[in-house]
Amino acid sequence: MKNKITNVQGFRDFLPAEKKKRDLIQNTITKIFETSGFLALETPVLEKQELLLGKYGEDADKLIYKFEDNGGRAVGLRYDQTVPSARVISQYKNDLPKFFKRYQIQDVFRAEKTQRGRYRQFKQCDIDIYGSNSPIVDAEILAVVYNCLRAIGLDKVKIKINDRQILIKYLSQYANSVVDVMSIIRTVDKLDKITELDAKKELVMKGLSEDNVNSLLFDIINADISDELQNIIDYATYLGVPNGVIEYTSILARGLDYYTGMIFEVTSDYYEHGSLGGGGRYDNLINNLVGVDVPAVGFAFGFDRLIEACEITGIFNNMLNEPKIMVTVMDNLLKESLSVIKILRQNSIKSSIYSDYTDKLSKQLSYANKNNFDYVIILGEQEVEEGTVTVKNMVTGESEKVIVQQVVTYFRNLKY
Ligand code: HAM
Repeated sequence: MKNKITNVQGFRDFLPAEKKKRDLIQNTITKIFETSGFLALETPVLEKQELLLGKYGEDADKLIYKFEDNGGRAVGLRYDQTVPSARVISQYKNDLPKFFKRYQIQDVFRAEKTQRGRYRQFKQCDIDIYGSNSPIVDAEILAVVYNCLRAIGLDKVKIKINDRQILIKYLSQYANSVVDVMSIIRTVDKLDKITELDAKKELVMKGLSEDNVNSLLFDIINADISDELQNIIDYATYLGVPNGVIEYTSILARGLDYYTGMIFEVTSDYYEHGSLGGGGRYDNLINNLVGVDVPAVGFAFGFDRLIEACEITGIFNNMLNEPKIMVTVMDNLLKESLSVIKILRQNSIKSSIYSDYTDKLSKQLSYANKNNFDYVIILGEQEVEEGTVTVKNMVTGESEKVIVQQVVTYFRNLKY
């Protein structure tokens, strides 16, 4: 027997039921992004290694999928959408508005150890604003993120926020010739994933004295909020983020190197497998790429985790309650069945036609039953003669005759 071929670990298939849920949430997010004035962008999955490497920090760099293409060029799969977009901004600067608000919803790739909420191919939904260093745009990003969560219906959410400048101010004094401040920040970032003791051990291993490690952790745990960050939070409140959702968290560090100002992560009490999204200000990334000053701030939802959180809260139960309708088909009454399906679809009533007109009615009904159709519209000779259809409720087993011209009204008025 041949070996069964399955998918590569960490790269997932989405069968129609799952895909439907994903599309619902993606459409909700897209609508909020567009309502807030963001324009769509797509970039290729493959980038040159010289773009990808050295932008995220040494831990993340190890997770970039890199290889030689068939022509011997050093390429890699995109690790996020921030660095590829920074390339686009620098490459097409003259074609884009001064303040460019873009959204991007595509898959990214990370060679991670897989576990729940951690995949190797996953979708991110990004919004970023380029060209402004005003706190208004930082606040706008926070407000749009909150509006998405509200539109999806996910509650018990927190936006944990900090400022890289606060971290740099308090931690720079502990950096030395072997441990730079970014390396300290990368370990501080792990404080919510590993124990304080393990974080301390890591910092000592990196080359700090035990006393310095204790003192830096004390400093960072007790660090006060900056005026700049308080300003951003105030503006976000004016834009509609309720009090209490944004929470100053002095130990939040964000793992990626390119952040320079506000940093934040979204969590929900319902979801315990990591943050649902993260972002921040990164004013130097584009300058480092091409020497042009373009300040930037943005955020990415981790779409796959968001879907898992929605599943846990039962959000899909409310969203997916449209009835599933199937129309039967007989070889001598093909035209009439096709005509009913045409009317339903012209009136935006989602419906399927049974796909083999040589099958007996009983087989068609048992197919509908097995595939969870809620209603079957039966067209037999008697119905065609009368100008009716029989609507069978597959849940209760009850049937009733409906005049063809009233089928649309019948389904529109159904209470389900
Ligand atoms: P990030 O924190 O690396 O930030 O990723 C953002 C989100 O993607 C995370 O909060 C998480 O929900 C999701 N995520 C990360 N890794 C995985 C994984 N292996 N499997 C499933 N989901 C995952 C960024 O990528 C930045 N580029 C965000 C940004 C946009 N900053 C400014 N603009």
